[in-house]
Amino acid sequence: MADVYILGIESSCDETAAAVVRSGEEVVSNVVYSQFETHGPYGGVVPELASREHLRAIVPVVRKALTDAGRSYETVDALAVTQGPGLAGSLLVGISYAKALAFALDKPLIAVNHLEGHIHAVLLEEKQKGNRELQFPVLALVVSGGHTHLYLAQQSGGSWTYENIGHTRDDAAGEAFDKVAKLLGLGYPGGPIIDKLSKLGDPSAVRFPLSQIKHPDRRERNVEAAERPRFDFSYSGIKTSVLRYIETHGMQSGIASRRAQKASVDDYRSLCDQQTFNLMASFQRTMVDDLVAKTLKAARAYDVATLFVTGGVAANRELRETFERQAAHEGLPVYFPSRPLSTDNAAMIAAAAYPKFLEGQFAPAEFSAEASLRLA
Ligand code: KG4
Ligand code: ZN
Repeated sequence: MADVYILGIESSCDETAAAVVRSGEEVVSNVVYSQFETHGPYGGVVPELASREHLRAIVPVVRKALTDAGRSYETVDALAVTQGPGLAGSLLVGISYAKALAFALDKPLIAVNHLEGHIHAVLLEEKQKGNRELQFPVLALVVSGGHTHLYLAQQSGGSWTYENIGHTRDDAAGEAFDKVAKLLGLGYPGGPIIDKLSKLGDPSAVRFPLSQIKHPDRRERNVEAAERPRFDFSYSGIKTSVLRYIETHGMQSGIASRRAQKASVDDYRSLCDQQTFNLMASFQRTMVDDLVAKTLKAARAYDVATLFVTGGVAANRELRETFERQAAHEGLPVYFPSRPLSTDNAAMIAAAAYPKFLEGQFAPAEFSAEASLRLA
């Protein structure tokens, strides 16, 4: 089979990204332009600003991905672009550009679900390492700023199928990290900051109740899926618990002084006291324990052979270590993407497009952004 070079484009949230991937198994180039600087002062992504930044960045980012790969526009075999889920305005920038480019170059265009992309980030890197012996079924935890999902993934022939067996009822796990960081007067995105600073705190200092989900999800439209065991998450309560702790422990003045400064992670180290480190470490420990416990419970219920943990929060050091330790205890292999491929990128989009390319699943000319696109 001849090599297939796919140019992937991703613009679903606050990263403008382009990459060239060979045959779904080798990252030839991977360019990510992050808009942290733009959204940082607001403590979260501002959709209008995100679209504007994507417009500014898309052409140079794609050009750089091709230059880094040593390829011209003409020598890629297909283009792939994120269709959703994500911010509608942001998705549209990537989609319009990809459509125009595909039309001008007369190349096929493949529409990719962002969540499927996160799962394929793991597969891509395992193939790149030479691991072709994955056992099925796979259970994938996709955990990011916008999503916390559990998918059973199966491969039959060239194509992939997914079944959702768990999702968050309210906030995504990464959103909880970002909101807690904001409450503590730390920068955006909060996940990497809490990850780094938690090392300095005592994770057993503050006890947070784990989320308990007692009622079936009334939003679940798929009756068959609703009847299978489900493993849902809920992370809005822990954010409120952190807020209450801050208020009852007189932490406001430290927070106000951090808010007044524009600091890097290392600056924050000197701007936080032990009580703040303890609070961060305890919050992170609670999040990690909940994610790991529910995922392993689901893995047992569905008797899966392999675990994937992917998405921005999969970059978290404690989450990785805890998964590795506890999955090993159960004899379950667990795979993560490297840190650069955990957060949003376009290599994962080009990789997820490869099986679709082989199957001839190309996007119709009239396809458009779907902000709430589901994977299953
Ligand atoms: O996958 P991603 O880049 O974008 C979405 O699809 O949402 O994930 C971004 C999220 C943010 O909420 C960010 O705070 C979180 O991932 N994140 C982390 C870490 N690195 C990124 N959360 C915890 N620990 C980290 N090291
Ligand atoms: Zn993502």
